Amino acid sequence: MKTYNIGVIAGDGIGPEVVAEGLKVLRAVTAGEDFDCNLVEYPYSGDYYLKTKELVPERVIEEWRTLDAVFLGAIGHPDVEPGLVERSVILGLRFGLDLYINLRPIKLYAAHLCPLKDKGPQDIDFVVVRENTEGLYAQIGGFLKKGTPDEVATVTGVYTRKGVERAVRYAFDLAQQRAAGRDNGRPSRLTLVDKSNAIRPQDIWRRTYDEVAEEYPEVEKDYAYVDACTMWMVKKPEWFDTIVTTNLFGDIITDLGAMLQGGMGIAASGNLHPGKTSMFEPIHGSAPKYAGKNVACPLGAIMAVSMMFDYLGEKRVAQRVENAVADLLASGAIPSADSRSGLSTSQIGDMMTEAVSRQARLVETRS
Ligand code: IPM
Ligand code: MG
Repeated sequence: MKTYNIGVIAGDGIGPEVVAEGLKVLRAVTAGEDFDCNLVEYPYSGDYYLKTKELVPERVIEEWRTLDAVFLGAIGHPDVEPGLVERSVILGLRFGLDLYINLRPIKLYAAHLCPLKDKGPQDIDFVVVRENTEGLYAQIGGFLKKGTPDEVATVTGVYTRKGVERAVRYAFDLAQQRAAGRDNGRPSRLTLVDKSNAIRPQDIWRRTYDEVAEEYPEVEKDYAYVDACTMWMVKKPEWFDTIVTTNLFGDIITDLGAMLQGGMGIAASGNLHPGKTSMFEPIHGSAPKYAGKNVACPLGAIMAVSMMFDYLGEKRVAQRVENAVADLLASGAIPSADSRSGLSTSQIGDMMTEAVSRQARLVETRS
């Protein structure tokens, strides 16, 4: 039997709670499938750092490279210097495994989840391809005379031709596939989101995009500056199909996107190096104020599990998880994707487990 080796980093705050539900669903949806998941747990988190002073060592990053995927909850602890553990674990994974794509679908499953008036599932269904290893996250910069009145802080944004091109190419491929997978005849459109009017070096994105676009004549070309993009996401979200953008802009616009699809509680992401070990996580943080209360919404973590199976090639299993999420939200059985749904974290996990098992029974009776 085929076995996938999956690293699990539950992390901080609500991380362990949502990961527990994600794994519950993972077990239920894979029961009776022709593959196994071998879960390998890792303790790295702010909590662990406070106890041991240990961040992620290089040998562990090497070990992660040998896995099929990593499933991460959330990192961030109020008693630890902000960003220290996030950089070690999240950026350690992204940079250490060269996970150059951060794939963030923005899909609304039920109109009542959307804060925009008169917008429904037919209007909000796009995907953001966020470049994930460069830009302002490249960790180039620092301080001079820190803490004095003469302090200087600098940061350098890095855009390499290779880094930009691989993100843009991935996005064109994805736009093309999305159109092929739709039955409503909606054509594919790839929007490049940048700020090349004010930040001139971002012109490398425009030029690379235009060159690669020549190979994809059937994908409609589209450009938006990032400020305008946020405006259009609210005003006319149905315009967007696939977006490709820089690391920082992708970080920002996907929090806005999460709200369009029902909140941070449901948004998931895949940090990918196509063909190699990739990492899957909800896009929310550790939300310390909800930690340990069994109120956090686990749907983001559960959708990350769906994305992980999709990436691993287990498309049918991935689809079953997504269908169950969509059904439970659309029917109102799960009224909202946040801490105010009236359902506990574990109740939502149980409902999901029940829903994916019910699907399996249906399929069995039909065949
Ligand atoms: C995200 C988060 C991270 C990021 C933080 C925690 C470093 O906001 O995954 O969107 O900025 O990428
Ligand atoms: Mg973010």
